[in-house]
Amino acid sequence: MLSDFSDGEVEVFFMKIITIEVLTTLIHRHGFKEFMCDLIETLRYDFSHWQNFTHMPRPAMHVPGGVLELMPICDNEKYFTYKYVNCHPKNPSKHKMTVVATGQLSEIASGYPVMVSEMTLLTAFRTAATSALATDLLSRVSAQTVAIIGTGAQSEFQIHALKLVRNIKEVRYFDIDPKAMDKFASNMKGQNLKLDRSNSIEEAVNGADIITVCTATKANVEVLKSKWVQEGVHINALGGDTVGKTELELDILYRSKIVIEYFEQSVIEGEIQRFGRDEAKKRVHAQLNEIITKKKEGRTNDHEITLFDSVGIGLEDYSALRLTYDLANKYSIGEDKNLVPLLDDPKNLFSIINEQKQ
Ligand SMILES: NC(=O)c1ccc[n+]([C@@H]2O[C@H](COP(=O)([O-])OP(=O)(O)OC[C@H]3O[C@@H](n4cnc5c(N)ncnc54)[C@H](O)[C@@H]3O)[C@@H](O)[C@H]2O)c1
Repeated sequence: MLSDFSDGEVEVFFMKIITIEVLTTLIHRHGFKEFMCDLIETLRYDFSHWQNFTHMPRPAMHVPGGVLELMPICDNEKYFTYKYVNCHPKNPSKHKMTVVATGQLSEIASGYPVMVSEMTLLTAFRTAATSALATDLLSRVSAQTVAIIGTGAQSEFQIHALKLVRNIKEVRYFDIDPKAMDKFASNMKGQNLKLDRSNSIEEAVNGADIITVCTATKANVEVLKSKWVQEGVHINALGGDTVGKTELELDILYRSKIVIEYFEQSVIEGEIQRFGRDEAKKRVHAQLNEIITKKKEGRTNDHEITLFDSVGIGLEDYSALRLTYDLANKYSIGEDKNLVPLLDDPKNLFSIINEQKQ
């Protein structure tokens, strides 16, 4: 909460604190489907205003078994946001999640933070909403069957989001971990979907209209082979998202119309990293914002293979944080806390120490 500053009064400047519990309350209050729909539209709006933002590829620190990343972005008018996120694919064997995140929204006029938030859930939402946006623009309108490879933390969010943009009737799923498949089947019950537990990736993708690959291995692996990919398919490739971490056989990229989020980051982190900068420039068809604004065409026929080579960018986190902040204010949800000092004299920071002593 911000209050008007009047002479002689201390400005009251609280930050919204969005914990997991607060966010789940907010989502239940607003509605899961409505939250995902609103996020898709917030993303569509923010991507279509791409030029207004200061973007930068995320700095990443590679450590044994994982990567630690910061994702800053500024809209140059109102807000700056950043997310801290990791990816440690072996974490589940130690009972920890592969991807966790936290984030912050600051007002740019003063630089003061106005919200800090959990972003593990928000990352799953915004990744799914972005895939749905890309799928809406790139998949065949008649698409009904999805194959999902990797049924970990992101998977259910992905399917729920795809259902909002296509008339999905059938979901084929595969994971090398049978327990992850059990969990997915149990979570997706009652969604009016035909759920097919596949015995292999080849079986899952055979005849699918949309293929979503969201596996986690910190290596260049070939989860999806080119010979299994049929004409007309749309692929959302989510797990190739850092240096030396890709999921697709390279030949799939040669056969596909490739759409990315942000060239400067995707060329380092996406499936296209294997091309190198010059070839990637030639092979990438468009950034997502160019398809949204119709600067470039999306799918032009039923035969082409479209590939959304997703890495996840700061703009998507900005959209998720902005929507969360607006809804938290609308429903008066989220604790207001002062994580910045409240001072009579803004130069007298030491007064807090003196007050504590008394
Ligand atoms: N592009 C983005 O914006 C974005 C956002 C979030 C996560 N991700 C990426 O998505 C991936 C999945 O994330 P998560 O949070 O669901 O991780 P997770 O660890 O919860 O799930 C990954 C699943 O993939 C399975 N898997 C691994 N190798 C496989 C293979 N060869 N075939 C089939 N299944 C396999 C694992 O058993 C696991 O169940 C990660 O690589 C993560 O970095 C991308």
